[in-house]
Amino acid sequence: MTFNVLVVDDEKNIRTGLGKAMELDGYATFEAEDGQEALEIIEREEIDLVLADLRMPRVSGQELLTRVVDSFPTIPVIILTGHGTIETAVQAMRDGAFDFLTKPVNLDRLSLLAKRALSTRELVLQHRALQAELETHRQNQQIIGKSPEMQRILDVVRQVAPTKASVLITGESGVGKELVADALHHLSDRRDKPFVKVHCAALSESLLESELFGHEKGAFTGAIGRKRGRFELANTGTVFLDEIGEISPSVQIKILRVLQEKQFERVGGEATINVDVRIVAATNRDLRVEIERGTFREDLFYRLNVVNIQVPPLRERREDIPLLTAAFIREFSRENGKTVEGIDAKTRSLLFGYPWPGNIRELRNSIESAVVLAKGEILTVDDLPPSIHDGGEDRDVRIALGSTMADAEREIIRATLASVNGNKTKAAATLGIGRKTLHRKIAEYAIED
Ligand SMILES: Nc1ncnc2c1ncn2[C@@H]1O[C@H](COP(=O)(O)OP(=O)(O)OP(=O)(O)O)[C@@H](O)[C@H]1O
Ligand SMILES: [Mg+2]
Repeated sequence: MTFNVLVVDDEKNIRTGLGKAMELDGYATFEAEDGQEALEIIEREEIDLVLADLRMPRVSGQELLTRVVDSFPTIPVIILTGHGTIETAVQAMRDGAFDFLTKPVNLDRLSLLAKRALSTRELVLQHRALQAELETHRQNQQIIGKSPEMQRILDVVRQVAPTKASVLITGESGVGKELVADALHHLSDRRDKPFVKVHCAALSESLLESELFGHEKGAFTGAIGRKRGRFELANTGTVFLDEIGEISPSVQIKILRVLQEKQFERVGGEATINVDVRIVAATNRDLRVEIERGTFREDLFYRLNVVNIQVPPLRERREDIPLLTAAFIREFSRENGKTVEGIDAKTRSLLFGYPWPGNIRELRNSIESAVVLAKGEILTVDDLPPSIHDGGEDRDVRIALGSTMADAEREIIRATLASVNGNKTKAAATLGIGRKTLHRKIAEYAIED
């Protein structure tokens, strides 16, 4: 990765001289003839280091320093001073300069100082990224689950995390795919490196492209400055591509190239950028169906799916429900200053038997609202959202002997629909069939809404 160094001096010779020296050290340089111009460049470009003269027209070096420290605190500023102005240099240090050099500048010293400033900046940025991540990690619970299904998943996670293999995590909405992706990163030796998540469905095709690969200044209307993409930011770390099933064919090709050649270009850019990233992707779609339909590239699928982790829906691992419930009760009691200590037997059996079409997310949300609404120390059925306890009284379907398979099917579909208030997506998920199949059967059996 090249660093961008901004040289600010009103004397053209000094400016270009220093710029050349920095270029020889492998940096990309920008030049500004005073603080005002410098600030404009800093707003526009991604500057990693500023070398600034003190006395300049319009905005002085002193003022530039103060503004950078205020608004771009991670950009180091090295102050250049003329002879006899050591006092101002000392003042500049107090004001937050990284260091200072006296003129005429000793280029070897400058070279060393620039290198030190830039590596310090990297550490600051890394630390910030880690702290931000730690915050989101605190909000996320660790993976909870003692069912054999979850234990098997945890085994696979532990086994593949330290490798560079791409992992495709599949499963219904709310089963914990993102949590698995988190674990893959945190159990790898990339754990101290960036972990960058991209929610592919949230962005339009062109936005996603520039988000992933970055763009050059002027690549499209609105691209006022150069921007690094997520793949570049994630270099040496992990990229999590969430909802990978939603991306367009043109972006699919580019991701394939990153997987195969570890290369890409920024949007509107010529230079090829090399990255070392581990890719983890997730989807709640069946990508094999998308391949049949021609909406997902088969070659990309195989590259992503080196290891597949299929997270089963909660209704197929009900043993996990009590533990999850307990964890969520503790979490939300603390968060809301409540003292909920447990749940009564009826509620427990209701939670255990409910089909959880929204999986763990639905359980978590239900417990959150129950805890917030709870009047006592024990959760009761009345505290749960109505969608869960409606029909909770009578969860059996009676099918008389002598019924046909068709009778039985009609009855289970009717009862399931009733239990989820006619929500066909939920009903289909509970029944373990596709929505289309459900619609066909509703028509076939003339089941009323
Ligand atoms: N095993 C688990 N232990 C504790 N919390 C869990 C577990 N699985 C999921 N959760 C929690 O449930 C919620 C949903 O999980 P997550 O976002 O990982 O699901 P997802 O599979 O990515 O869903 P979607 O496909 O909708 O994005 C999160 O708040 C997550 O912390
Ligand atoms: Mg998700």
